[in-house]
Amino acid sequence: MAYRSLDDMDLAGKRVLVRVDLNVPMEDGRVTDTTRIERILPTIRDIAAANGKVILLAHFGRPKGERVASMSLKPVVRPLSELLGLAVDFAEDCIGAEAAAAVDKMVPGGILLLENTRYHKGEEKNDPDFAKALAANGDIYVNDAFSAAHRAHASTEGLAHLLPSCAGRTMQAELDALGAALAAPKRPVLAVVGGAKVSSKIDLLENLVAKVDMLVIGGGMANTFLAAKGTDVGKSLCEHDLADTARRIMEKAAREGCEIVLPADAVVAREFKAGAENETVALDAIPADAMILDVGAKSIETVKAKIDIAATLVWNGPLGAFEIAPFDAATVAAAAHAAARTREGKLLSVAGGGDTVAALNHARAAQDFSYVSTAGGAFLEWLEGKTLPGVAALEAEA
Ligand code: 3PG
Repeated sequence: MAYRSLDDMDLAGKRVLVRVDLNVPMEDGRVTDTTRIERILPTIRDIAAANGKVILLAHFGRPKGERVASMSLKPVVRPLSELLGLAVDFAEDCIGAEAAAAVDKMVPGGILLLENTRYHKGEEKNDPDFAKALAANGDIYVNDAFSAAHRAHASTEGLAHLLPSCAGRTMQAELDALGAALAAPKRPVLAVVGGAKVSSKIDLLENLVAKVDMLVIGGGMANTFLAAKGTDVGKSLCEHDLADTARRIMEKAAREGCEIVLPADAVVAREFKAGAENETVALDAIPADAMILDVGAKSIETVKAKIDIAATLVWNGPLGAFEIAPFDAATVAAAAHAAARTREGKLLSVAGGGDTVAALNHARAAQDFSYVSTAGGAFLEWLEGKTLPGVAALEAEA
C-alpha cells in the first residue's frame, strides 16, 4: 500500500484539514468513552509541533444534512483539549463565513474543531461543491479516520482529490497492523469470529476462509453452522434458513485448506439473564427447551490450542453472550490466552469491529493485543476484503 504520511509533508504555517473520527459514545451531552479521542492525539500533536494549523473535521451521529442540536461536536472540545493539554477552538459550521473567520484567526500550532460535517447534505453525497467548500479552508488534507474510511463522503474521500493528502498517525498504525494481519501475515493465521448472526458476516466468512489457515466460529453464529451439520440446537439463536450458506462456506474452507473449528460442547440455560442456571452439555445432548449461551470447557481448550499454534490472530466478535456472566467465560479465557501469547512475543494479535473492543476490555485483554482497532463497520468491510474508499483515495493521490 502506497500512501504519504505526515513525514512527507511540509506542514509549517499551513492550514491542515484533518479528518478524524469523533463519533464517540455520549450521554446527556457528555463524552463517556474517550478512546477515539486518545487515538487522534499523536496526529494533532505532530502537526501542531511542526507549526501547522490543525483544523479538525469530523461527523457525529447521523443527522442526515440537518442541524440536529444533540449531534453537535461542541461537547467534544473540552475532553479533547484536556487530553491534549492544549487549547482547542470551535466553529459552529464546517464551511462558509463562520469556518473561514475561525480559520483566519488561527496561529501556527493552533487547533480548531469545525462543527459536524453531516449537518450538510453534501457530505454523505460526496458532493463536489461541498468538498470544494471544505477544501477552501485548507492547504493540506490529512485523513486520520480509518474507522470512517468505508464511507465515500466529501470529508473522507472527496477532499483527498482536491488537496495534497496523506495519512495521519492512527490511519498509518491501523493500515500497518491490518496489513501485517492479513495482507502479508506470518503463518499460520487464525481468525476468531463470533457474534450473533451469520447473516451479517457472510462476506466476511467467505473472504476469511480463503485467507486464513484456521477459523474458529463462536457466538450465536456457530449455532447456524452446528444446525447445518445436523445438531439439534434447541431454542438457541439460529438462522435455520442459512443452512445452505453455512454449508457453502464450510465447503469453500475445505477447498481452500482452511480448518473450520466449531464448538465441541455448549453451556446452555433456559433464561437469557445474568446468573441463569446453566449446565455444560455435549452437542448431542442440548435440551429442546434450552439455548446455547456460551461454548463449553472442551471448546475453550481447543481454541487455546489453536491460539498456541498460530503466529497471527485476527479477532472479531465474542464467543458467547459475554455481556451476562457467567456466559462471558469462553470469551474471557480465550482473550486472556491470546493476550498472554502476545505478551510472550509468540503472537501478533489484531482485533476490532462491533462488540469486540468491549469484549476484550471486559476480559482485560485489550491492552496486551498487538493492535485493537476502534473501527466498527470499516473493520468488518476490511475483513470482507473490500477496498475502503477513504484509503483508496489516499493511495490514488500518493
Ligand atoms: C463509526 O462510528 O463506526 C464511524 O464513525 C462511522 O459511522 P457511520 O456508521 O455513521 O458512518
